[in-house]
Amino acid sequence: MENKKIEEVKNLIEQDKSTVTNLKNLNDLKVKYLGKKGIISELTSEIKNIPNEEKKNFGQKVNEIRNIFNDFYKKKKEEIETDILNEKLSSETIDISLPATKIRQGAPNILEKLIEEVEEVFMSMGYDVVDGPEVEEDKYNFEMLNIPKGHPARDAQDTFYIKGEEILLRSQTSPVQVRTMLKGKGEIPIRVICPGKTYRRDDDDATHSHQFMQIEGLLIDHDISLSDLKGTIDVIVKKLFGEKVETRFRPSYYQFTEPSVEVDISCFNCNGDGCHICKHTGWITIAGAGIVHPNVLKMSGYDPKNWSGFAFGFGAERMAMLKYDIEDCRIFYNTDLRESKFFDRKEAE
Ligand code: DAH
Repeated sequence: MENKKIEEVKNLIEQDKSTVTNLKNLNDLKVKYLGKKGIISELTSEIKNIPNEEKKNFGQKVNEIRNIFNDFYKKKKEEIETDILNEKLSSETIDISLPATKIRQGAPNILEKLIEEVEEVFMSMGYDVVDGPEVEEDKYNFEMLNIPKGHPARDAQDTFYIKGEEILLRSQTSPVQVRTMLKGKGEIPIRVICPGKTYRRDDDDATHSHQFMQIEGLLIDHDISLSDLKGTIDVIVKKLFGEKVETRFRPSYYQFTEPSVEVDISCFNCNGDGCHICKHTGWITIAGAGIVHPNVLKMSGYDPKNWSGFAFGFGAERMAMLKYDIEDCRIFYNTDLRESKFFDRKEAE
């Protein structure tokens, strides 16, 4: 009789097992079997009514059932909890295969890069990099550079006037020469370069711009000659365009230098054979230069009997256009990332 009951409960547990799908079912089942009035609990309380000789056997059977249920309960609980966790994990997964939003990175402006390169070479030769105002006085931009009012050389440097005839946008970086000499008070040697913006009343096209950049240089010391100038220019030219490139001076005329020269370099592209960059001449003009005119020294407080010097002026856009084979200078001033990136890549090659 008692054994039959045990068997029935066993079968009932087996049947109930398959109905469990969640934690609530499982706990309900626990109450059904092990709760105060649960089936197994009731069997346990019956033990005391069983005749002594069967007590042990019956007790063991009840324990067996309890263990069966407990084992099932423990296993099922773990199983359900694992399922819940897995479901949670998969519903909250971040799809790392999704491509991230691209961060567009800029590149240094090619003109800025060239100027920095030039600055570094000159600094390594002991030069300081100095600045001057873009809104300049006629006095510094022209007069103290030996270009008095009415001088025909002014025509080539027609610029924008800010106030009357005296305040203008500088048409060249050469006024920084005057400002630097005035600071030196005729007493100390000078070695400076001055890169900066300049302005002229020009119509913009592929090779002209109303605003462009120059890199001015000035050295004042004792017994300075054209060969000092040539040696210095040669260093920067070789650094920028390659060791094989040669420098040549052609006679020229500037009001603030005497003698004055045009600086040509042998074509770095064709080694002088002739190509589109050197316009089939084998040579490229990259700067104006010369020995500082005694009048300029005098006007700025340096005694020409005691001091001498050289000066030069590079066109920054022109140098960059040559170096990177650029045909239109307007690209330096538009902000198209594709262009700066292109030159950045070209540089890395
Ligand atoms: N300032 C001149 C120009 O804009 C360039 C130049 C020529 C600068 C000769 C110099 C120099 O310092 O010595 O055309």
